[in-house]
Amino acid sequence: METTTGQLESLRAELEEQRRIAEEKEDQLQRYAADLRDTFVAERESAEELRASYVATVRALTNAVEARDAYTGKHAERVAAYGLELTRRIDPKLADDPQTEFGFLLHDVGKVAIPDGILYKTTDLAEEEQSLMRRHPVIGFEIVRGIEFLEAAAQIVRHHHERFDGEGYPDGLAGDDIPLAARIFSVADTLDAMTTDRPYRPGLQLDEARAEIRAGSGTQFDPAVVDQLEQLPDEAVERIRAQIG
Ligand SMILES: [Fe+2]
Repeated sequence: METTTGQLESLRAELEEQRRIAEEKEDQLQRYAADLRDTFVAERESAEELRASYVATVRALTNAVEARDAYTGKHAERVAAYGLELTRRIDPKLADDPQTEFGFLLHDVGKVAIPDGILYKTTDLAEEEQSLMRRHPVIGFEIVRGIEFLEAAAQIVRHHHERFDGEGYPDGLAGDDIPLAARIFSVADTLDAMTTDRPYRPGLQLDEARAEIRAGSGTQFDPAVVDQLEQLPDEAVERIRAQIG
């Protein structure tokens, strides 16, 4: 009898010990889980901080260009918005890559190296002035190429004046050899340039601008991108114009 009581007690003690160990393990697991949660939150915060500092850097560079060119105003921002709207319809993954927007915003960053006398000239440029002006995509490419988070954006900057028929610059690339984002940019850029008032001419109506772009399909522009623009409702374009004035 005594032996049984003793056995029961030691069994109880053993059970109690096991319960205590299990509780300790559970506490430990909960502490690990809490640590993981904290790490996850901290990492997400630092990733967001990093992303925000990327965006701030790109905005600062974009503003450096636009501050000089009073005529274009918020051109880069509108082009980026039109460009992203088209990109979402053509290649959603490309639209999700922040570098696509960065490239759209930074396209003319190379103009920082173009003298005011050429940049602001409203009459035709002399040949050597024109050839200097046409260097801005390569200058811009050289400015951003070394920045790791802008490598894909640098390709848009370099190729934003290529033409679908190969008659553009700086590399005379044609068709699919031109990065898709640069082909999309080209349509978005022309849409904004045509519909914006300039000191020397009023902007075109949207339907007139659409007709001009259609006329350049296959020569200046990628027909697939022009098709997507045709499917983009006027309201989408008007909304961007109203938002980014
Ligand atoms: Fe340009």
